[in-house]
Formats: sequence, structure tokens, C-alpha cells
Amino acid sequence: MSSLIIYGATGYVGRLVARLAVDRGLAPVLAGRDAGRLAALGLDTPVRAAALDRPDALDRLLDDATVLLNLAGPFHRTQRPLLDACVRTGTHYLDLSGEAAEFLTASERDPELRAAGVMAMPGVGFGVVPTDAVAVHLARRMPDARRLELSFVTTGQVSRGTLGTLTDGMAGTGVQRRAGRLVPARAAAEHRWIGDGSTRTRVVTNPWRADVVSAGRSTGVADIATFFAVPAPIRLALRVAPAAPWLVTSPAARRVRAALLARLPDGPTPAQLDEGRTLVHGLVRDEAGTVAEAVLTGPDAYRYSVHTAVELLARTAAGDAPPGYRTPADVHGPQIALSTPGTALRDLR
Ligand SMILES: NC(=O)c1ccc[n+]([C@@H]2O[C@H](COP(=O)([O-])OP(=O)(O)OC[C@H]3O[C@@H](n4cnc5c(N)ncnc54)[C@H](OP(=O)(O)O)[C@@H]3O)[C@@H](O)[C@H]2O)c1
Repeated sequence: MSSLIIYGATGYVGRLVARLAVDRGLAPVLAGRDAGRLAALGLDTPVRAAALDRPDALDRLLDDATVLLNLAGPFHRTQRPLLDACVRTGTHYLDLSGEAAEFLTASERDPELRAAGVMAMPGVGFGVVPTDAVAVHLARRMPDARRLELSFVTTGQVSRGTLGTLTDGMAGTGVQRRAGRLVPARAAAEHRWIGDGSTRTRVVTNPWRADVVSAGRSTGVADIATFFAVPAPIRLALRVAPAAPWLVTSPAARRVRAALLARLPDGPTPAQLDEGRTLVHGLVRDEAGTVAEAVLTGPDAYRYSVHTAVELLARTAAGDAPPGYRTPADVHGPQIALSTPGTALRDLR
């Protein structure tokens, strides 16, 4: 019998996704590196341990699988061995990465994926489902758009895993898309004011966001810039980190960071998840300077990610999985962003 595998089911997001997938009757196999932690999940569905440095164990895990959903971050450590195993075993691959580097790796493997009959769709969470949907929606409204700007604002708590992934990458430069190519870009290099028509929020360059790759694929727009709202102290840290990378990458800095992260709760409480909100803003412009603008509002980013990850897991398992590197809105259209309860998409102009 074919199966759906959720790898990284022991993490904060993994546990929420596993519960929703079981509640939806998808009967997933819950997987990860630690048999004890998997057994402790206590969900009424099978569990299987397989370490990432054991290709033989990964192949056995995927032996009769249709699709693997990878929730084990940071993804620069976990994507490669799991995607390799998916290609070897002919299993579709989904993950919750949201950074350009992992999307680039997946997109560069497009010919190999097509040859293997395997779909790879990174970014099945808040990164990049709603931004990809807004991008495709706007590109349909303005097919000759030359520039696309995507911004997001989140309110609510972040998980320990997200903070770890974010601070891990903070010292590195990122990219933006210009004339169809990815060019190096600094965090917080530019700013914009965006809103939903009644609110205004300052956003700054987010050079790690994967949309420069995914929306490049799903819309073909040549220039793509990505922005996010962050508190002023983080804006300062983003500007300073590339000039003094040892503040993030030295062994002492890593130890301090690990100790600080270990003291945090693993993620938002259910009450905090109820309070969190997200806003995605998109703008396209053509050569003549004509602009189209849309905004998508939704629930907390984790709640959103859990819903879209399970929805895309179910759709992929049902066979909606064209081989190659794919984006959520490329395969499922902009409506995929609205499959999460409490989400709305509106044109501003
Ligand atoms: N793009 C988005 O929209 C979005 C949204 C939410 C989260 N995320 C990302 O998703 C990731 C997970 O977040 P989280 O809050 O759930 O983090 P978390 O609570 O720290 O969970 C991390 C999970 O990854 C597993 N893992 C880590 N390294 C591993 C390795 N080398 N081999 C096997 N398993 C490994 C952990 O297994 P153990 O339990 O055995 O340690 C655990 O299951 C983070 O990278 C976060 O940034 C992305």
C-alpha cells in the first residue's frame, strides 16, 4: 500500500502537521531520526526512524511511499539527503523551506527530477504559498509585468526552530532577481511602505526569501524584490551582521545562540496561534509604469503553514504532482492560498 511520509514529525511544526494529517484521515507514517521521540508522539498512526546519513534506511522508509513531506529544518542540512532518496525511489518531495538557497538547489535539479518522474515542491508553508499565490494572481492580471514586489507582515510569536534557521543565515548575503538573474543583495538595503488600504507598515529588503526563485518560475517576471516587516532592533542586527559575520558564525557566538534558543518555548501556544495574523502584499509594474496591487490576509503564519502543508500533502498524494521543480501556485493556481480557513485575497488597484 502506498504511503505518505511526514519526516521531522517530532518538531514543533511537525507535531501540528502530524495531528492535522491524522485528523483529516490521511493515515501518514510519522518519521524522523529519533525512534524514542517518534514513539512519544502518541498519535494513532505508524512511526518509523531513519537517520539522514543512512541512505539505505531512507530508501527503505520510502520504499512504498507516494510522497514525502520534509519538516526537519534547517533545510540546508536536511533537503539534500531526503531529495536524493526521493529521486532514487521515485517519491514526490515537499518541504517547508522558505529560503532562496534551497529553492535554487531544487530548481537546478529540474531535469533530473523530470527524468525520475518526481515532483519537488519546496515551500509548502507560509513561505511561499501565499506570496506565490499573490504573484501568480497579479501576473495573470498583468501578463507583461516587468517588476514584481512581494512583502509580508506577520504578527505573533515565532518558533525556536524558525529563530534558529533565521539567525543561522543572518550573516550571509542574499539575492534579489534582476533582468531574470539572481544578483547579490543585502538585508534591509531598501524600504517600502505597504498596507491593506487602511494600514501602513514599513518593510525592508528580505534577501533570503525564496520568492525570487519560486515566483520567477511561476510568473516569469524579470525583476523580483522581496520585503518583510521586522522590529527596529532586528533591522539594525540585519545591517550589522554581514559586516561582522563572526557575531553570528564564531564558535562562541554559536554557543551563546544555542543556549539562548534552548531557553525559549518550542513555539507559540494555542492561544498565541489564535491571535497571530499575516498580511502579504504584492505589486506589479509594466514598462509603461502601470501598477496592479493586491493583498492577502490570513491567520497566524504557523497555523497557515500547517494547513497548507497538509493540503498540499493530500493533493500530491492524490496524484496532482507534475514531475520537475514546481511551485504551489504553478500547480494549483492562486486559489491554493485560500484553502486555509480565514484567508482572503483582495485587489487594491
Ligand atoms: N517556510 C515556512 O513557512 C516555515 C514555517 C514554519 C517553520 N518553518 C521552518 O521549519 C523548520 C521546523 O520548524 P520547527 O519550529 O518545527 O523546528 P523544531 O521544533 O526545532 O523541529 C525541528 C525538526 O527537525 C528535526 N531535525 C533537525 N535536524 C535534523 C537532522 N539533522 N536529522 C533529522 N531530523 C532533524 C528535528 O528532529 P528531533 O526532534 O529529532 O530533534 C525536529 O523534528 C524550521 O527550519 C523553520 O524555520 C518554515
